[in-house]
Amino acid sequence: MLERSETETSESVRTPVPMLDLKRQYEPLCEELEEALGRVLETQQFILGEHVREFELSAAEQLGVKHALGCSSGTDALWLALAGSGIGAGHGVVTTPFSFFASVSSILRAGVTAVLADIDPATLNLSPAAVEKVLEIGRGARARAILPVHLYGQCVEWSEFARIGRERGLTLIEDAAQAWGAEWHGVKVGALGDAAAFSFYPTKNLSAAGDAGMVTTNREDVAERVKMLRQQGMRRRYYHDEMGWNARMDGFQGAVLSVKLKYIGKWNEARRALAAGYDELFQKAGVAEPGPYPVHGVVLPREVAGAKHVWHQYVIRVARRDALREFMAARGIGSEIYYPVPLHMQEALKGLGYGEGDFPEAERAAREVLALPIFPELREDEQETVVEAVAEYLS
Ligand SMILES: Cc1ncc(COP(=O)(O)O)c(C=O)c1O
Repeated sequence: MLERSETETSESVRTPVPMLDLKRQYEPLCEELEEALGRVLETQQFILGEHVREFELSAAEQLGVKHALGCSSGTDALWLALAGSGIGAGHGVVTTPFSFFASVSSILRAGVTAVLADIDPATLNLSPAAVEKVLEIGRGARARAILPVHLYGQCVEWSEFARIGRERGLTLIEDAAQAWGAEWHGVKVGALGDAAAFSFYPTKNLSAAGDAGMVTTNREDVAERVKMLRQQGMRRRYYHDEMGWNARMDGFQGAVLSVKLKYIGKWNEARRALAAGYDELFQKAGVAEPGPYPVHGVVLPREVAGAKHVWHQYVIRVARRDALREFMAARGIGSEIYYPVPLHMQEALKGLGYGEGDFPEAERAAREVLALPIFPELREDEQETVVEAVAEYLS
């Protein structure tokens, strides 16, 4: 294998590939976005108001869901979805240890016990079989809800979660933060569970110009509660029925998101083409392995039958991940690790009472995953550069 210093040629440094370049999305939309922002200034509707309402209505229509409610972030959307579904003190919620921090912190913020179950090594999503096992024992037996995360833009095996929910009378909350437009047998995520939470953090497939999020639901009672909770627990101005919070979406974000909503279908298709492109390039380079665990080469992510993946991330598994990442960085090629530390091993979540060894699949994934550059405007030659670098490192 080549050492980093031997490969740091002036040529390789000349062809960097960014992990994400948001300016490429902004440039062709510049005028449209500025016009939309101008309308917010003209109307002075800064908090919720008509621009957020307009986005909510088109978002609900696109997802095929009855209610779409804008809020301040994906983290708040998770809390609102839980609290709005009546999950609270004394309840337990089962989720994955292999996700972003907010998947668990929002459960704790709702005053609920977080119960973890391991992931499926083939998809890196929460394993329905592991959830069923956990529900049989200890804290899991008192669980009132399951919160699966559609990680990297791929829907979890929803039919299984729906069955488990039905059989045990559990509420299903989707963490759809990374998965706008993803589907399960033709139904969009966000329309599958009792409620769902989206994030429009700037790096997401559908992104705001700041922090923003959304709760979707087909349930009238949940929608009504979420509206009250995001607005300080008020149904009537200055009459606070419950412990709500300030979790509102602002008008500028609503306006930006309404513009981008028109393009997200096209952007997600571009991501799907890029993912297929990576698959083909890795196969051609002769470094792809069947998995689920890597040996000498690269295990490619795969789309599960029944799921439509929107490739928020294209995540490979590789044995000497950190060294590969350094090798790529030396050539100016971006990559990222989502996530280096599973949630049960995070300092802030020690109180959950888990420790190393409790979720071996999540722990192993945390050592092996590497997200490669993927965004709608990524060029084919840039993908080739990425794959060439990985293949060279492995040769
Ligand atoms: C899976 C998941 N859940 C929740 C969140 C929280 O969203 P936000 O950053 O908008 O609060 C994120 C965002 O990174 C996420 O990836």
